[in-house]
Amino acid sequence: MHTIVIASGKGGVGKTSLAVNLAITLARAGKKTILVDADVAMASVGIMLGIDRAPISLHNVLMGDADVRDAVYDGPSGLKYVPSGLSLDRIKKVDYAKLKNAVDSLADTSEFVVVDSPPGLGPDAMAAIKSCRELILVVTPEPTSMADALKIKSVAEKNNIKVIGVVSNFVTHDKTEIRKQDLETLLGIRIIAEIPDDFEARRSSAMQKPVALRLPAAAYSRAVIQIANTLPGVEIKMIEGSKNSKGIFSKLSEAIGSLFGKKNRAR
Ligand SMILES: Nc1ncnc2c1ncn2[C@@H]1O[C@H](COP(=O)(O)OP(=O)(O)O)[C@@H](O)[C@H]1O
Ligand SMILES: [Mg+2]
Repeated sequence: MHTIVIASGKGGVGKTSLAVNLAITLARAGKKTILVDADVAMASVGIMLGIDRAPISLHNVLMGDADVRDAVYDGPSGLKYVPSGLSLDRIKKVDYAKLKNAVDSLADTSEFVVVDSPPGLGPDAMAAIKSCRELILVVTPEPTSMADALKIKSVAEKNNIKVIGVVSNFVTHDKTEIRKQDLETLLGIRIIAEIPDDFEARRSSAMQKPVALRLPAAAYSRAVIQIANTLPGVEIKMIEGSKNSKGIFSKLSEAIGSLFGKKNRAR
């Protein structure tokens, strides 16, 4: 029974995408997995999964109107998920302290509970972080991401939450980016994966079909397998990369390479 929160200091770094695709990857590997959308203000998990609003959501649970077990729905590949439910006027009445009990009770019936957290350290994000025993920290390899990430790390340590590792997202290996080793030194946490900036990931969100389902051999999906394989008891065979899932840089260099190849042959 593992309860893992996907957290970050900044918004837009790719938490929800990772939470959704990691949960799907675990479910596909036959692990009993429940994904919880604890970003009550955004509710983007349902959008990414392409699942419409559910009658009972985490909102009802946090308001004390429902048991979390009645807010569990079937997702793709055997994944179960708890939607957040989006209703701005009711957010004020939410009691975030109820989240921990909810996650604990889900953990009783599953191998992995993956919690998608809101960004930052507001009461909603704090509740999401404290609801789990383990944490994956998502950053982008840029200086502005570091201070916020260190704050999350310190909150995790204060609350005895195990930091599994850092995931560096939107990696292009541009020379302005912080390199992997420097990230590790700066944060004092191991990097469990670098996820490339993958057009297919963005496209999948727009199509409401998670990339791990749509294109399991995409660069994004392969990085998620690598992350899943750092979790205890998980051993997923790495899928060979598909040609059309390569990053823009390798595509470009291949294109240039073949251009020169053709010229050489023509001579
Ligand atoms: N590695 C990636 N490559 C390309 N697009 C990505 C990647 N990770 C996330 N995205 C896209 O970036 C946007 C923000 O991601 P999201 O997961 O919603 O971030 P957060 O939950 O941290 O706010 C989404 O449109 C998502 O599809
Ligand atoms: Mg999000």
